[in-house]
Amino acid sequence: MQSRREFHAKLIGSAITFSLIETLWSRSLFADDAKPTIQKWMAELVEITKDLKGQKLTDLQFQTKMEDLYKRVDLTELCKVIKLDEAEKKKLPDSGAASFGFDLSKVEGLPADVGFGKQIFACKKGRSIVPHGHANMCTGFIILKGEWHGRHYDRVETNKDDYVIKPTIDRTFKPGELSTISDHKDNIHWFEATSETAFIFNVHVIGYDKTIKDAGGRMYLDPNGEKLAGGLVRAPKMSSTDCHKKYG
Ligand SMILES: [Fe+2]
Repeated sequence: MQSRREFHAKLIGSAITFSLIETLWSRSLFADDAKPTIQKWMAELVEITKDLKGQKLTDLQFQTKMEDLYKRVDLTELCKVIKLDEAEKKKLPDSGAASFGFDLSKVEGLPADVGFGKQIFACKKGRSIVPHGHANMCTGFIILKGEWHGRHYDRVETNKDDYVIKPTIDRTFKPGELSTISDHKDNIHWFEATSETAFIFNVHVIGYDKTIKDAGGRMYLDPNGEKLAGGLVRAPKMSSTDCHKKYG
């Protein structure tokens, strides 16, 4: 039996603990916590990825859904979940972009295999995620921090030594802004950091279309090629090394 005094002391003690936990929770000081809004957002990303791979969505439909979802992101919560602060402590390369992984396995409600690849890209000022396109891949960026000069192109033709491309997007991107890629729309991207450091959230879904025989991976090119009629450009294919030498 405990005295009334002991009972009250315990009650106050646990009330303090509870309010402390609540404070920590609301400020998201727990290492791996994720608020329900971002959990639900991630779960939606998993869902549309599954639909793309299961061919319930075309790549263009997926792109629209991904953009709608990206527009609704709670950027602060996303940065916390993927631990942007840890990425910010790392050294950035003198050419090209750094790629940092992050762990979603502690986010409640997500399957062990989320179905998509994911990373944070980071560049120093003046450095670039160099111009490249993708085959059989849908992918999307959200600017996390800093400013970028982002360019996209449609891949209109694929030839032996070059691609015929058409500029579609050329503008400044700020935190919270987004862009997406599929084989049929805005297939090529190139992002140059214009602030001291700059960070991008990336999700990619590879091999969604069994009819596309091209291998996945990046296809490097020089978008400043010969100008053709109708605003098109003949963009020579490049090696990763040459592309980084010129644009990294
Ligand atoms: Fe890419």
